[in-house]
Amino acid sequence: MARPRVFVTRRIPQVGLARICEACDAEVWPGELPPPPEALREKARDCEGLLTLLTDRVDAALLDAAPRLKVVSNFAVGYNNIDVAEATRRGICIGNTPDVLTEATADMALALLLAAARRIVESADHARAGLWKTWQPLGFIGQDLCGKTVGVVGMGRIGFSFARRCRRAWEMRVLYHDVRPNPRAEAELDASLVSFDELLAESDFVSLHADLNPGTRHMFDAAAFRKMKRTAVFVNTARGGLVVQQDLVQALREGWIFAAGLDVTDPEPPAADEPLLRLANCVVAPHIASATVSSRNGMAEIAADNLLTGVAGKPLRAWVNPEVAPRRRL
Ligand code: GLV
Repeated sequence: MARPRVFVTRRIPQVGLARICEACDAEVWPGELPPPPEALREKARDCEGLLTLLTDRVDAALLDAAPRLKVVSNFAVGYNNIDVAEATRRGICIGNTPDVLTEATADMALALLLAAARRIVESADHARAGLWKTWQPLGFIGQDLCGKTVGVVGMGRIGFSFARRCRRAWEMRVLYHDVRPNPRAEAELDASLVSFDELLAESDFVSLHADLNPGTRHMFDAAAFRKMKRTAVFVNTARGGLVVQQDLVQALREGWIFAAGLDVTDPEPPAADEPLLRLANCVVAPHIASATVSSRNGMAEIAADNLLTGVAGKPLRAWVNPEVAPRRRL
């Protein structure tokens, strides 16, 4: 029997890639940068499966170009790069990679919180530039963490793990805002579900862990930043599109908030002249929250499982649109 044809849009860890190449007639995009949309459409033409990254746009035009496509396995937990409704309409399964990156992403949010609150990058840059002349009683004063209030926007798996660290390590009060309550966070972390405005007004640290969708896009705008404390630190490890970036720049420049730690921007990568990259009170990492050995290997394993079960007409291990099952393409 012919092996299913699949296209993998970038090299991923070998634990997943080897299984895909063994079971499928697989082509792997060799470039360091994502395939341009025309190239992706061309490569997808005869494929039954696609393994995509969050940098690949999977829209109606791509799906139309791939009439045999059965599954899109996204090498990410987020899938805002995929038009899931269009895929479902065509009977195409979508997979993602939850759980294996939860702890790594929560760690990254904490790392950014600490870096921004304690001015670690700014002060390290100062030392590296040879400007460290003496111990300064008034130099690089940052924010305390112990006993403060943290506001978690989106109390899902990652938001919970982040909040647990804040609660257990720094005894913070935990507030959260979400479309649905999280009874576990309330029971284990004494977390309180509050309105968005209350969270903004009360929190010393605000960390964003929400999905990017039409309802959450640009939820952090000038009005939101204006409601935060002037001493607040804002952390985003979710998606850049949740934030109106120029409003964040203004908030940081004009001191509406103290600092920000970002693992995501909009767009990615940011333009070379993006002000956030130059502001002393902003730490920007290049979307690396899941970049640990176990997370990336785990993501590769789940993405391979999703791709292989998808082309075989079986249930996906992490299935974004299981409602497609009765009419999936076989
Ligand atoms: C990374 O941002 C992911 O969604 O996995």
